[in-house]
Amino acid sequence: MLNNKQIKQFQAQGYLVLENAIAAPDVAAVKQAALAIVDDFDIDQHRTVFKTTDRNVSRDDYFFDSAEAVHCFLEEGALDAAGELIRPKELAINKIGHAMHDLVPEFTAFCRLPLIGQILRDIGYSEPQLWQTMYIFKQPGIGGEVSWHQDASYLITDPPCVTGIWVAVEDAHQGNGCLWVQPGQHRSALREIYHVDWQQRKGRLTTLDDTPWQTDAKAVPVEVPAGSMVLFHDHMPHYSSQNYSDTSRHAFTMHVADKHAEWSQQNWLQRNQLGRFRL
Ligand code: FE2
Repeated sequence: MLNNKQIKQFQAQGYLVLENAIAAPDVAAVKQAALAIVDDFDIDQHRTVFKTTDRNVSRDDYFFDSAEAVHCFLEEGALDAAGELIRPKELAINKIGHAMHDLVPEFTAFCRLPLIGQILRDIGYSEPQLWQTMYIFKQPGIGGEVSWHQDASYLITDPPCVTGIWVAVEDAHQGNGCLWVQPGQHRSALREIYHVDWQQRKGRLTTLDDTPWQTDAKAVPVEVPAGSMVLFHDHMPHYSSQNYSDTSRHAFTMHVADKHAEWSQQNWLQRNQLGRFRL
């Protein structure tokens, strides 16, 4: 599937853009399934906001349990000071996570598209396993910023071997909060690590390295049409800005590791009930 030039580009730059990689009906199916989950979601049961801009935010059980479930998280801007919703539910969800690939047939089918397994084998996986899926809404007007980070801070394996697969469900551009990356910086140090103490059921983000994140001037916006796929290395710094526009920017992400790497017991995401999901 990938040619040598693309594989070398991924290795050298730490990311690879595959424009229009996924057929429109497959993208539409996953979007429909996500909207159906939101439709079923009882917002009065769980008002957990997901945000990345507050380093001290502690995750709750609803978050930890989402490793093996399908949970909806709210945009911070969707609630007023009293915690009441100020916009319709379907415009208030930040993301759905993190086991749709196991539990929702449309997502399972999407993740099992042969193209995805093929690409992973092309970039060196012998037995790729899918650990988490997220459907990100980046809602119009309030879609929250995802601050600079490296995915390896949250999904740690030994040796590090996680790849993020980011699929544009809708067109992504600078106006609606597209992804930004720092080409070549996947070789830079891991800045932070998020470990969970399972006895206390508390997570903590610790600084490992003070290397500053690059400024936007040196970063590259990944503007892609719906159906495009972006692969990125687990040490690649990336972020996305708030969405101030009047259009959403839906994306679906998958995070994969190789069977032969050891998954850290201190990762927030543990699969205890669900079996391994092989691609
Ligand atoms: Fe990320």
